[in-house]
Amino acid sequence: MQINDNFEKLPESYLFSTVGRKLREYKEAHPGVDVIRMDIGDVTLPIPQAALDAMHRAVDDMADKSTFHGYGPEQGYAFLREAVAANDYHARGVNISADDIFISDGAKSDLGNLGDIYSHDSIVAVCDPGYPVYVDSNVLDGRGGELVNGRWSRFVYMDCNEANAFKPVPPAQHADVIFLCSPANPTGVAFSRDELKAWVEYALANKAVIIYDSAYCAYITSDDVPHSIYEIEGAQKCAIEVRSFSKTAGFTGLRCGYTVVPASLCGYDAEGREVQLRKLWLRRQTTKFNGASYIIQRGAEALYSEQGKREVACNVDYYLNNARTIREAMLGAGFTVFGGENSPYIWVKSPNGESSWDLFDKCLSEVHISCTPGVGFGDNGEGYIRFTGFNTSENTAEAMRRFMNFFKK
Ligand code: MLT
Repeated sequence: MQINDNFEKLPESYLFSTVGRKLREYKEAHPGVDVIRMDIGDVTLPIPQAALDAMHRAVDDMADKSTFHGYGPEQGYAFLREAVAANDYHARGVNISADDIFISDGAKSDLGNLGDIYSHDSIVAVCDPGYPVYVDSNVLDGRGGELVNGRWSRFVYMDCNEANAFKPVPPAQHADVIFLCSPANPTGVAFSRDELKAWVEYALANKAVIIYDSAYCAYITSDDVPHSIYEIEGAQKCAIEVRSFSKTAGFTGLRCGYTVVPASLCGYDAEGREVQLRKLWLRRQTTKFNGASYIIQRGAEALYSEQGKREVACNVDYYLNNARTIREAMLGAGFTVFGGENSPYIWVKSPNGESSWDLFDKCLSEVHISCTPGVGFGDNGEGYIRFTGFNTSENTAEAMRRFMNFFKK
């Protein structure tokens, strides 16, 4: 068998695997040192009680012949799809049907798997910096071309930098598939309604599809920031939205998310005929996926109960408060900072012009906190590091104390 040689084009390991390995090596060499993790966006609060109770009941369902659940629907149970449609869309005045919602084992898998429904020749537009899954999964599918001076020859790069406050604008070139994330990972910056409108207009004019990663929408606090791309007129004809329960309800280990593919969204076949993308995604999921676990879906459903909503809001507030602590500490010390207002991520410019990895190493070995090197999200991230607000409030305060003590010297 000949391998998919696109694997050999990629850097040897995924960003967060490299960070994790460096951290492990450091801890093995320095067993007494307490390193505070401010790198990967993994949550620290336990699962909301409403979801826990629902999952316990679902486990009991599995013990009885009359309530046992075997294979579930590949698209997800109707009870969860209907709860999502009612609470995440109808309650915001957005008309999304439960039939357009596909429950999955998380946003990351869906963002990579969606590549199965668009052509290998598609021109893909990505933000630099951006969540590495968009680039790496499309390179694996053969859409990257060659890596030349740190950039893939077939991608359209949308530069995000200090000059545009890390908000990309629609490119001058044509793209077929556009990856957008708002509030953005890693910069924490979010699109306003007007900014997002420009993207929808671009996609409609180019007969393109936006893959809209909305994993952090629960963190939006500004009135002018849309929670869903479908709040923008025309978006149901040009956008797929991907969401997750990981960052809102602590499901990073349980795994559950969903993808919305509206019935009115079409792509084109080689003859230029319209083809409904929902049909393709359903075919893809029924072929390669057997659905998220019944127990987990019952847990996710309970997040939409009154108790569940209160508990999720409490968790989100807790992490937003951590993000505020980081943001204020950095600003107070005179650093240049983005994000942390509508987002759990804070994007910080190296205080003394160090490279991202140098600063990562310095933070780890001298300050004993880990962060994510900005360059791991793309060339424009060089010279930046990302902090996450997902640690405990005690650890966040201690990490900021260490950081400030060190860098104020
Ligand atoms: C991140 O830290 O960027 C995310 O946690 C990674 C992910 O969600 O896969």
